[in-house]
Amino acid sequence: MRFYDCLADEASFLDDCLRGLAAPQKALAPKYFYDHLGSQLFEEICTLPEYYPTRTEMAIMEANVAEIARLVGPNVELIELGSGASVKTRLLIERARPALYVPIDIAERQLRSAADEIAALFPWLHICAVRADFTRPLRLPSFMGVPVKLKVVFFPGSTIGNFTPDEAAALLRGVRDMAGTGARLLIGVDLKKDKRTLEAAYDDAQGVTARFNLNLLARINRELGGDFRPERFRHKAFYDEALGRIEMHLESRYAQFVHVGGRRFDFRPGETIHTEISCKYAVEEFQALARRARFEPLRVWTDPDRLFSVHLLIAV
Ligand code: AVI
Repeated sequence: MRFYDCLADEASFLDDCLRGLAAPQKALAPKYFYDHLGSQLFEEICTLPEYYPTRTEMAIMEANVAEIARLVGPNVELIELGSGASVKTRLLIERARPALYVPIDIAERQLRSAADEIAALFPWLHICAVRADFTRPLRLPSFMGVPVKLKVVFFPGSTIGNFTPDEAAALLRGVRDMAGTGARLLIGVDLKKDKRTLEAAYDDAQGVTARFNLNLLARINRELGGDFRPERFRHKAFYDEALGRIEMHLESRYAQFVHVGGRRFDFRPGETIHTEISCKYAVEEFQALARRARFEPLRVWTDPDRLFSVHLLIAV
């Protein structure tokens, strides 16, 4: 396994945080959830009874793996965006047998341990793990010496939903340009559904999602020397039907102020920091979005309850 650190600018967490907390609607980017503890909490979210996306996407992949493997084909370069624990990828690697696996993630420890586990499971596979922020323009190092037929980008988990439709189209356009004409995109996309199911998935009974959200404040304290008192904030998640998206916020329980990077930020009671959106798409809506990034649909799979979709597209 080879490891490449392509995380450009560590200082941006402080800059983004100061800018985000100074905005009229305070906001922090969801990519900052994923420090080591945040990544562990996210893995825990994925096992919660209310959080259907992970198990449903896995079930779709399992039910259709023969067809997916046939359409993806062998000896490809399999690039995974936001690889996390790489669980679904194992199935794909086992059945499609790529020549090279390139997991890309922002969280170094998780990236390294997941890549090591894949290396142990598939000794024949070349692996180049890349620590990078794929929300920024990405230029992968050239992985010389591994003959590959085609690039296949795997983007599971509906992480694409954590961007606005315009940001998502721009991100996919960047992926398309990085991977080149003819490349395939295999992407998991959460479907629109009833408000109750969605809100339960983002506000679970055990409070794991609340801890995941609040960990962002603890992370600011740990890494940027902030003085947030997380117990003075509450986790809030709701589905905005008009926009077709979950919004997550951290709501101030009181009038209070905090310091970050030597600056003071005031909160009114009930004022929120907007921490995440999670957009949901009908199949045709997502296909239209992908077309904006010059990807044409090849095939789409869903589960019997139509909770989640997995799309295969080709870069044109
Ligand atoms: C990573 N991403 C797709 C998750 C989602 O469902 O939007 C993040 C998450 N936030 C709260 N629960 C899960």
